[in-house]
Amino acid sequence: MLASQTRDPVFETVVRDQLDRVESALVRAADADSPMVREAAQHVILAGGKRFRPLLVILGSHLGPAAVDADVERAAVVVELTHVASLYHDDVMDEAGLRRGSVSANSRWGNTVAILVGDLLFARASDLVADLGPEFVRLQARTFARLVQGQLAETVGPAPGQDRLGHYLQVVADKTGSLIATSALFGAKLAGATAEQQRTMAEFGEQIGMVFQLSDDIIDITSDETGKTPGTDLREGIPTLPTLLARASTDPADARLLTLLDSDLSSDDDLAEALDLLRSHRSIDEARAEVRRRAESARLLLDGLPAGPARDSLEELCDTVVSRTV
Ligand code: FPP
Ligand code: MG
Ligand code: MG
Repeated sequence: MLASQTRDPVFETVVRDQLDRVESALVRAADADSPMVREAAQHVILAGGKRFRPLLVILGSHLGPAAVDADVERAAVVVELTHVASLYHDDVMDEAGLRRGSVSANSRWGNTVAILVGDLLFARASDLVADLGPEFVRLQARTFARLVQGQLAETVGPAPGQDRLGHYLQVVADKTGSLIATSALFGAKLAGATAEQQRTMAEFGEQIGMVFQLSDDIIDITSDETGKTPGTDLREGIPTLPTLLARASTDPADARLLTLLDSDLSSDDDLAEALDLLRSHRSIDEARAEVRRRAESARLLLDGLPAGPARDSLEELCDTVVSRTV
């Protein structure tokens, strides 16, 4: 779990308590009569996670005086359940064997159970969001549409002649930025923040969400300790910032890497070689520099928010997202 870090220990304790309550509520929301369904539905939640989206709801809710604790908790559960539901589906699509250091649900129970459990969790999120009113329901529905469209665009790939980097960044905005933007917006709405502050939070969430996914994609290449199988994107032929930057190289020394990136990488040896070459390639540093630039521009948006521990925590979050290595 990503804790909120500020120089304000009282605020930190408040946020930590809220996150703890969200944790229990998540497990309850994934309950089911059948022990097998319950185990499958709670599997990814109990495996842990950074709880980035709940943290943004909570921090956003501290930007104003109006938030009701129970609503904040509910909104945080809604966004995390939606995220977890998407992971059940994502692991089926990516044929992933590991998630959060545990065997993935699709590996353990098969694709059908994994897909249906994802649907069940999304249904639970939809039920809970109804308590927050029609404005929240509509935002949730529109976010769901963006998640699905992002995932579809990733699956279909760029149209002939379409700029690959632009396509990738749109996928990242839709499949990840959208739900993180909604998390930040939910919090700000519950706080009773002004319309301008709400727009700022939504924009901050979208940008820091993109930074989060861009980092994740780099870490997929560089780390062996993500709790996922390293190189999954490479094997699936899913573009990431480092591979897109490396592909633009005209350096003859990169010929072997470019050949591997153009091949299907279904052989373990080829995948290991491509990973090795990429890990020492300058495109990793270039991608990290781009991530830092984007985090800095997200941080600047926060100037438009009221000063206080919530804004301080959001600023800290910009550093955490950039510096994380797993
Ligand atoms: C992870 O990407 C996937 C997403 C962030 C979004 C996936 C969205 C859907 C499957 C559609 C929405 C579905 C529901 C039920 C809400 P990744 O594969 O790059 O990340 P990973 O490395 O964590 O696997
Ligand atoms: Mg995946
Ligand atoms: Mg995926």
